[in-house]
Formats: sequence, C-alpha cells, structure tokens
Amino acid sequence: MKKILLDCDPGIDDALALALAAGSADALEVAGITTVGGNVDLSLTTANALALREFLEFGDVPVTPGSAGALLRHTVRATHVHGATGLGAVVLPAPERGPSEGHAVDFIVETLRAAPGEITLVAVGPLTNIALAVRREPRVVEWARDLVIMGGSYTRGNHNPAAEFNMLADPEAAAIVFEAGWTVKMMGLDVTLTAMVTSDVLDRMWPLGRLAELLVPAAQSYGVVTAESGPAIHDACAVAYVLDPSLFTCVPAVVNVETAGLYTRGMTVTDFKVGDRRANALVATSLDVKRFWDLVLGAYERLAARLG
Ligand code: RIB
Ligand code: CA
Repeated sequence: MKKILLDCDPGIDDALALALAAGSADALEVAGITTVGGNVDLSLTTANALALREFLEFGDVPVTPGSAGALLRHTVRATHVHGATGLGAVVLPAPERGPSEGHAVDFIVETLRAAPGEITLVAVGPLTNIALAVRREPRVVEWARDLVIMGGSYTRGNHNPAAEFNMLADPEAAAIVFEAGWTVKMMGLDVTLTAMVTSDVLDRMWPLGRLAELLVPAAQSYGVVTAESGPAIHDACAVAYVLDPSLFTCVPAVVNVETAGLYTRGMTVTDFKVGDRRANALVATSLDVKRFWDLVLGAYERLAARLG
C-alpha cells in the first residue's frame, strides 16, 4: 500500500487528482491533505478540499490549511481558469466538518517525522508549504519517501510563455524545494498537457452516477472538449506517477528556478546535460496517454461503484 500526503490548491484538476486517489484506495492511502493559496484564495482551496473530502468519501483523512500566499512579492491567482469558487461549474454539498487545527507546514513535518521513508509528498499547487516545511525541518527531505510535483516545464509555460502557474505563483518557494537535496519528480506541462479529456474520455465519465456530478462539469468548465483535444488534468498526473511510474518516461536533469527575470520569473530552467553535477530532478518527458486513461477511468469507475 503506497501512502501519500497531498498538498493542493483545489482547483478543478486538483479535484480530479483527489478523485483518482479516492478511486485507488486499494493501492493508495492518503495520510493527509494540506491546502495552499494558489488557483484561488486559501479560504476557497480549503473549503473545496473539505467538500471534496466528504463527496469523495475520504473519511477521517485530515485537511489542514497552510500558506495563504507566496513567500515574496505579489500573489498570483487563476480564477480566470478555475472560476470564482475554484471548482468551475461544480457544485458540491457543503462540508459538515471543518479543517484540522494547526498549520499545514507543521502537519507535513510531523506526519513525515512519524513515518520516515513511508510517505510520498505530492504537491500540485504552489510550493509554499513544502518550502516552509523544508526550512522548518530540513530532515523532511530524508523522511519523505519521495517528492512528486505537478509543476514547471522544460519547454514553455502556460500562465505566460516562460512559467507554469504553480512555479510562477511562488518562484522563491520552488527554488527552495528544488535546492533542498531530494530528487524532485517533476510532472511538468510537457507531459500533463497530453492528459486531455477528449470526447471519448468524457463519454466514459457521464455514466458514473454521483461521481459524474463532479467529473463532467469539472471537465466541461476546464476547457473545450472535442474528439481530438480537451482540458488537461495536470494534477492527476502527479498521483498517477505515484500509482504507476511506468506510465512516464523520466530523464535526470538539473533544474533551476528563475526568481529574478523580468520576463522569465518562475521558469524551470531544465538542463538535461547533468555532467558531473547531481541531478536534482527526474523530469517527465513523455506519458503513455492510453494507459494513463485506463488507470484514471478505472479508478473513477471503481469509485463510482462505491458512491452510487
Ligand atoms: O499549471 C497547472 C497547475 O496550475 C495545476 O496545478 C492547476 O491546478 C494550477 O494550480
Ligand atoms: Ca493545482
């Protein structure tokens, strides 16, 4: 049984990543969910995580809020992509239970301290909480079984030509995380943009009962679905990597995060010519899209059977 701690900013694709985790309960245990300000404000990412915990029947998995904004400079949001609530056209029942006491950074440090080598940290939002955890307790780098992120790109950005949103939202945090000493498993736009909800995929979401009430409006409000293309469920790639890394081709690289460039702030400058340096990242360069959707839709179908 693999264990993850998921740091997220729900967020439409964060929600679809959580649904993948919920549908993979036979192979994956979620030790905790932490939230960060990102796509929308922390109050909303946390409210969405709480609603998703109950809708996806995660039971007692703790939800702990973290950092509201970036370590430095102005806050970047993606309400133009994820909508005013952060979940697009998705409407979930209001959660009955609130978040855990305390701060996500302490939850991350103490959860990893208590289970060294067992839990994979999965970060699918800005890396503020992860960076603060590293600063608070550098040994989290050793205690984490692995660190998998959705973020960055070795080609071009999405929020602007240079930077992917999660990295741009907090470049200083991303720089701290990439320089912390672990080998970051980077699921960047180069592969996540191929994980598209095309009409064939959407056709397999419609019949999924209550779960379809999340999946279908989420996909439809995240982009235009056609036979050939559709919205990419970026964050689900990070969870899919934990479930089956063989879906991805990954290459060692030295990744540096630009924090000073006027036009390139947040860019993950990726050098595959490692030479005698230590590769601080394993960068995904391709995804087996057919097998990815077999995994994801299989998990959604199992979850739907549970939810009714
Ligand atoms: O660039 C895509 C990433 O930014 C995803 O994590 C999405 O949720 C947004 O946070
Ligand atoms: Ca996200």
